[in-house]
Amino acid sequence: MAELKTGLRGLLANPMLYVALQRLMGTDKECRSFVETYIKPSPGDSVLDVGCGPAELLRYMPDDLTYVGFDPNPAYIERARMTFGDRGTFFAKYYERSDVERLPSFDIAVLSAVLHHMNNEEAQHLFGLLRQSLKPGGRVVTLDNVFVPKQNPIARLLIAMDRGRNVRDPEGYRALARGYFDNIDGVVIFKAFPPYTYYVMSIS
Ligand SMILES: C[S@@+](CC[C@H](N)C(=O)[O-])C[C@H]1O[C@@H](n2cnc3c(N)ncnc32)[C@H](O)[C@@H]1O
Repeated sequence: MAELKTGLRGLLANPMLYVALQRLMGTDKECRSFVETYIKPSPGDSVLDVGCGPAELLRYMPDDLTYVGFDPNPAYIERARMTFGDRGTFFAKYYERSDVERLPSFDIAVLSAVLHHMNNEEAQHLFGLLRQSLKPGGRVVTLDNVFVPKQNPIARLLIAMDRGRNVRDPEGYRALARGYFDNIDGVVIFKAFPPYTYYVMSIS
């Protein structure tokens, strides 16, 4: 199973509850920092966001870029359209080969908190598609929760409770992109409060 969709965690499929929980956890500040420090979009760039959810990352990107978001949850996409209107193009579907063929290529592809919702086969298939979706010199930026040694036990507990059922260690995430991309840089980020641990990869 890649994602829990029942019980309390199933409630997070509701975009209002998802965004409210993000704000409660302080992740809106992390979104800004993730965009500014790692995604680093420049005006004029084209950005593909796969598993975009309600597209909250777009809030922190320059106005003058092309943003295309995909998410299989139609409620998230509806919220993204209501919030951002024509600042982006939003598709309520999985990102598939037919999308690679019909859309122009991108400068940056983003997978924010998505890989831990995918099993290895799904994630590797996606990296294969992303490789064909990027312009020369393009890059993929990912962020996920992660298991690392000597982790704060509260962080570990919170991460183990995530609805995404495929949280990995850093090597587990890196292995997904290997074979599709040559350069994979990763960094572990420790958040103090509430305790949490992320892994960010910059891939080209
Ligand atoms: C934790 S949310 C992250 C949403 C958004 N990227 C963010 O950073 O706020 C995980 C998202 O991945 C989406 N998702 C789950 N499985 C997916 C898949 N196989 N392909 C694409 N998106 C998927 C979910 O619908 C959900 O919106």
